[in-house]
Amino acid sequence: MRILVTGATGQIGSELTLALRRRYGSENVVAAFHRTPLPPPLKDSGPSVRLDVTDRAELEEAVREYKPNVIYHLAAILSAKGEENPAAAWRVNLGGLYNVLEVARAGGVRQVFWPSSIAVFGPKTPKDNTPQDTVLSPTTMYGVTKVAGEYLCDYYARRFRLDVRGVRYPGIISSETPPGGGTTDYAVEMFYAAVKGERYTCFVRPDTVLPMMYMPDCLKAAIQLMEADPSSLTRRADYNVAAMSFSAEELAAEIRKHVPSFQVEYRPDFRQEIADSWPRSIDDSAAREDWGWEPSYDLSRMVEDMLARLKRRLQAEL
Ligand code: SER
Repeated sequence: MRILVTGATGQIGSELTLALRRRYGSENVVAAFHRTPLPPPLKDSGPSVRLDVTDRAELEEAVREYKPNVIYHLAAILSAKGEENPAAAWRVNLGGLYNVLEVARAGGVRQVFWPSSIAVFGPKTPKDNTPQDTVLSPTTMYGVTKVAGEYLCDYYARRFRLDVRGVRYPGIISSETPPGGGTTDYAVEMFYAAVKGERYTCFVRPDTVLPMMYMPDCLKAAIQLMEADPSSLTRRADYNVAAMSFSAEELAAEIRKHVPSFQVEYRPDFRQEIADSWPRSIDDSAAREDWGWEPSYDLSRMVEDMLARLKRRLQAEL
């Protein structure tokens, strides 16, 4: 197996690339990055290539050179940043996906993983226990590209028999690389502030509830889905996956159990409206039935582990 990971320096990519290297052999996993230089753990542990997913020729060249049979395509612009530059979000998210699917089809790639998101849902979607098949009414450009992307993946699977798979991730909480410009970033930022002994100004209201997932479960979902027996799968790139749901205030309270002095003030900005348009909780029974999805981390386990890891990392950097 030979794997190419785009967006390898991003929030998910930086950890998924290392997890794939551990599982399938370091030399078999190529880390593709664009603007952000590769951090040492990625640079030193396997092959890498600089490429821009919006540039078809660069992608073709990388596929010719490294001959991957699997691509994990993670390069994307998140929801809040996408609202600052909708044109760039369209170009990178949808143009990038189109290029990856085309190059995969023409270059003999067997399998593609592509993450969708809870951002496919919107104000018309039922907010609690959001069904797998329901109204999609995205209000952000990011969400629009994720809805279109899900259908594009479906199309390539049907029309060209490309084995494209993906999940609708909730907000992802990670200790290694912070997310860049998402609506759910407050959940990660809170931990950094708490560990540094700082007061946190949260950009959504305290009662804002969103579905979230801890990074180990995020990695597990991707790898488990990609390894699943194709005959058991009933969907392509739109599997709902869930792990936990909590309000901003509940997260702060859970962190306070470990850092009693932690203080949060709430000053909602434009991201509140995006958060309000997304579900509070997700029905992931299709993923559970088809490929055995089951999360390992709930709120208290995640907070404990996250604080321990961040403390270790930030102290080592001092
Ligand atoms: N975490 C993402 C965002 O906030 C949701 O897919 O944009």
